[in-house]
Amino acid sequence: MCGIVGYIGKQKATPFIIEGLKRLEYRGYDSAGVAVHQDGSIRVAKKTGRVANLDKETARHNFTGTCGIGHTRWATHGGVTDANAHPHVSSDGKIALVHNGVIENYVSIKKFLTGKGYTFASETDSEVICNLIAYHYDKEPETADSSRLLESVRKTLSHVEGTYGMVVTSEGNSEELVTARKGSPLILGIGKDENIVASDVSAIVARTQNVVYLNDNEIAHITPDNFSITTVDQSSITPVIDTVDWSIENAEMGDHAHFMIKEIFEQPEALENAMRGRFSEDGSTAQFGGLNISANEFRGVERFMFCSCGTGLHACMVTEHLIEMFAHVPVECDYASEFRYRNTPLFRNTLFFVMSQSGETIDTLAALREAKRKGYKVLAVNNVVGSTIAREADGGIYQHAGHEVGVASTKAFTSQLLIGAMLALYIGRMRDLSYGAGVDFVNALKGTPELVRTGLKQASHIQAIAKRFAHYEDMLFLGRMSLFPIALEGALKLKEISYIHAEGYPSAEMKHGPIALISEKCPSVFLAPKGELFNKTVSSMQEIKARKGPVIAVITEGTVLPEGLADEIITIPDCHEAVLPIVASIPMQLLSYYIAVERGCDVDKPRNLAKSVTVE
Ligand code: AGP
Ligand code: GLU
Repeated sequence: MCGIVGYIGKQKATPFIIEGLKRLEYRGYDSAGVAVHQDGSIRVAKKTGRVANLDKETARHNFTGTCGIGHTRWATHGGVTDANAHPHVSSDGKIALVHNGVIENYVSIKKFLTGKGYTFASETDSEVICNLIAYHYDKEPETADSSRLLESVRKTLSHVEGTYGMVVTSEGNSEELVTARKGSPLILGIGKDENIVASDVSAIVARTQNVVYLNDNEIAHITPDNFSITTVDQSSITPVIDTVDWSIENAEMGDHAHFMIKEIFEQPEALENAMRGRFSEDGSTAQFGGLNISANEFRGVERFMFCSCGTGLHACMVTEHLIEMFAHVPVECDYASEFRYRNTPLFRNTLFFVMSQSGETIDTLAALREAKRKGYKVLAVNNVVGSTIAREADGGIYQHAGHEVGVASTKAFTSQLLIGAMLALYIGRMRDLSYGAGVDFVNALKGTPELVRTGLKQASHIQAIAKRFAHYEDMLFLGRMSLFPIALEGALKLKEISYIHAEGYPSAEMKHGPIALISEKCPSVFLAPKGELFNKTVSSMQEIKARKGPVIAVITEGTVLPEGLADEIITIPDCHEAVLPIVASIPMQLLSYYIAVERGCDVDKPRNLAKSVTVE
C-alpha cells in the first residue's frame, strides 16, 4: 500500500529510485528495498526501517545499473523483516517484483506453486505472485510481437484475486519493465530517453511533468524510450498524457521543523484556493465548475449521503450539520468501510458524496463504486488532482489545498470543511436561504483565511500549554453541534501523532459513561464557543472540575468563564456558524502538534500510520 518507484533509461537507476522513495516516505512504511539490473543479473538490497538505511546499503553495493524497481512496504502479510521487504525474487531467480496491495487468494496459489517445486523466502502474499509470474514465464515462448514477461504477468493476473500496484522485471533483460494496477495507484512518468513508474506523482515530478495515470485492470509495458498499455484481457488502450501542474518545490519543508506545522500555517492560503472563483457574481451563493450535474437535478435532491474515512469523515459530519442547518435537507454520513458492506437503504433522489484528500483510499473508493453500481451519481471532494476517486466520480470539487505531506491531515481537513460550508450555502440558496443570509454567509467565508491567521497567532501560547499537558496519557475532547466532529478530530490528531489515548464526545454525553475516566490524570479539552449551548457546556465543565479533572477551555474572545473553572484558556475569534468548525480546528491542530513535539515523537511519520490507505 505504500510506495513504488521503477526506472528505466540511461541514467543510474538506484539514486533516482532512492530519491523517489524518500519523496514517498510521508505515506508511512516500515521497510524499503531496490532491485537493479547489474552485470547481467538482478541485484537486490532491502532493509527494515528508513529509506536512509537502504541508501547506505545500496551505496555499499555501488549499483550502477540503469533499470530497477524500488519499494517502501507497509506490512500486511508477515512481520516487518528484511526478508519480507520488497522486492521479492522468484525462487528460480528469474523474476523480481514490487507490490502494493493484498493478494486474497495467495494461500491456494502458494499451495499450487509449492507442488511445482517453487520455494518461498518470505511470509508475504506478494512473493506468491512473483513465483506465479516465474511459473508462467518459464512456459511462455518469446514471440516477435509480444514480450514474454508481459504475457506471463497477464496470465498471472487472470488467476489473482485482490488488489495490486506492481512492477516486474526479468533476469537478463534490462530493457523492459512491466507494471499493472488494480485498486492501488500507479502513474507512468514519460521522460526523454527514460521512463518512470511510481505510485505517486511526487516521485516523478523531479524528472518529468508528463504523466499517464494507469486505470484498474491495465498493464503497461515500458522500455527506455517507449511504453504501451493494454488491459488484462488484451484490449489496447490509447494513453492520455497529462501534465502535472506542481513542481518539487511544493513538497519542500522550507524553514519549518515538520511538514505538519508548515501545512498548519499554509491554511489561510489553502482556504483562499478552495474559494477562488467559486462565488456567484451577486455575492450571495457558491458556484462549482465540475459537478457535472445540472442545477435542476441538484435542486431535486431529497437526501445527501456522505462517505469517507478518518479525518475526511469528520469533515463530512460537519457538512451534514451545516447542510441540515442552512438548507434543511436530510444528510446521512457513514464510514466508507462500513457503507460498502451495509444494507443501507438509499432513497431515490439521493446524491452521494465522498471526501478524500488522497483520492486513493480503498474503502472510500469501494463505497463510491458500490453507490455507482446501485445507479447513484457520486461526486467527490478531493485534493489530489487526477486521483482514482477523482477519475471515477461523476463529478466533484477539487480542494486545491496543495500537496499535503504530513500523515496527519490539517490543511486538507479545513479545506474540506470550507467546501462543505460552500455546499451548504449552494444548496441552501437553491431552497429557503434568503439573499441577505447568502451574502452574510459568503462574506463570512471570505473572511475565514484572516480568522485562521488570527488563530495561528496563538501558536506560542498553545505551545506553552502543550508543555504543561504533554505528560498525560489520556485526554477527552468535548464539543457540541458542529464542534462535536471537531472534538473527534482533535482526539484523532492527538492520538495519531503523540500516541496519547484520546477520545472525542459530545460534551453532554460525557456524563453517560466517559465521566468514569475523569480524575486529575485525565484532562478534558472543551470546545465552548459562545451561543445558546454555552451555559450547558459550562455545566459540563463544572462536572469535570468537581472530579478534579484538568480543563483546557476553547472559548470565544470576550466571553468569561467562572473563576477557576479552566486550568488553561485558548480563545478563538467570534465568527459565523458556518466557519466556526474551521476556526475551532486551529487550536486542536496546534495543541496536538506541540504535545507530540514535546514528547519527542516523529510528527510527520507517526508509527503504524500511512498517508493513504490503499489496502482494506
Ligand atoms: C488523517 O490525519 C488520517 N491520517 C486519516 O484519518 C485520513 O484522513 C484517512 O485515512 C482518509 O484519507 P483520505 O482523505 O486520503 O481518503
Ligand atoms: N501485502 C504486501 C506485503 O505485506 C504488500 C504491502 C504493501 O502494500 O506495502 O508485503
